[in-house]
Amino acid sequence: MAKATKEIKRIAVFTSGGDAPGMNAAVRAIVRNAFNNDLHIYGIMRGYEGMIDGNIRRLETTDVGNIIHRGGTVLKTARSQRFMTPEGRKQAYENLVDNDIDALIAIGGNGTFTGAMKFIEEYPDIPVVGIPGTIDNDLFGTDFTIGFDTAVNTAVQAVDKIRDTADSHNRLFFVEVMGRHSGFIALHTAIAGGAGGVLIPEEETSIDDLVKLLKRGAKRAKLFSIVIVAEGNKMGTVYDIAHKVEEKIDLYDDIKVTVIGHLQRGGSPSTLDRVLASVLGFTAVEALMAGKSGVMVGIKNNNVDYTPFAEAIAKSKPLNKDLLRMAHILAQ
Ligand code: F6P
Repeated sequence: MAKATKEIKRIAVFTSGGDAPGMNAAVRAIVRNAFNNDLHIYGIMRGYEGMIDGNIRRLETTDVGNIIHRGGTVLKTARSQRFMTPEGRKQAYENLVDNDIDALIAIGGNGTFTGAMKFIEEYPDIPVVGIPGTIDNDLFGTDFTIGFDTAVNTAVQAVDKIRDTADSHNRLFFVEVMGRHSGFIALHTAIAGGAGGVLIPEEETSIDDLVKLLKRGAKRAKLFSIVIVAEGNKMGTVYDIAHKVEEKIDLYDDIKVTVIGHLQRGGSPSTLDRVLASVLGFTAVEALMAGKSGVMVGIKNNNVDYTPFAEAIAKSKPLNKDLLRMAHILAQ
C-alpha cells in the first residue's frame, strides 16, 4: 500500500461509473468531515470526464445539505473512455495541479478503481482513496457496496407486485435484474422475493435443470412461479431462456418476461445504504489524512477495512455458497 507523505489540504471528490443510491450520502459525509478537519473540499463533475475537462468546483457544507435522501449523484457521473488513455490522464493531472488539489476520493466500482490505479502509477504525488459505490455489490474487499441494499429492495418490491398478477393468472414470470458479471442482486432478490428459481453468472446450470425445478414446485399444486435472472447469467437473454422453457413445459397458463432495468439504480437510498455511505465517506477523509493511497475503504464483518485497488479489481468477490444452496432449496 503506497504511503503519501505530503500534507493534505485540498481534497477533490468525484463519482464515476454507474450511479448508485447512497452516493450523495457519501459525498455529504466527505464534505462534512473535511470541514471538521479544516480541509478545503472540491467536487469534480461527471467523474473522470470532468477531471479531464477541468469541471472542478469548490464545495461548501451547505452544498451537501438536503441530499442524504436523494438517489443518483449530485456530482453527476460518466463512464470515461478518455481517462483510459495516457493523454486523458495527463490532462486530468494538469487540471488537478492547476486547482491545487492534493488528494482525491473516488466513488465508484471496478472501472473507477482501474482508472485510479493507473493514475497513481503515473502520478503518485496525488493520493487516491476509493469508496465502493455500485448496485452490483461485486467488489472484493467489502461485504457491501453503496447502493446494493436499495437496488435489492427496489427489485423485491417489483417482484412482490409481479407475484400478485402471476398468481391471479397462473403464469410463470422471468424477471431480469441487473448484474452484468455478478449474481448478488439476483440471489438476494430471489431469497427475499420467494422466487421459484434463480439464474446467476456464478453458477452453471441448464434449461433442463430449471424445468425439473419448476415441475417439482408444480407437483405441490404451485400454479404460478417467478424465476429471477441476473442479466449476466450464462444461459442467454431472459427472452431466450423464457422461450426455451416454454418449449419444454406446459404447467402454466402463460409465460411472461419482465426486465426491471434501471429502476433498480434510482430512488431514495435505504437506511442501510445511507449509514454505509456515511461511514465510508467519513473514513475516506481520515484515510487520506493518515497518508493512505491506492486503497478502497470497505466494510468487512462490520469493521472498516482497506483493500489495495489492485486486489479489489483483480479478485472476484465470492458469492455466499450457503445462501445460494438455501435459495435453491427454498425455491422448490
Ligand atoms: O452500475 C452497474 C450496472 O447497473 C450493472 O448492473 C449494469 O449491467 C450496468 O451498470 C448498466 O450500465 P449502463 O447504465 O451504463 O447501461
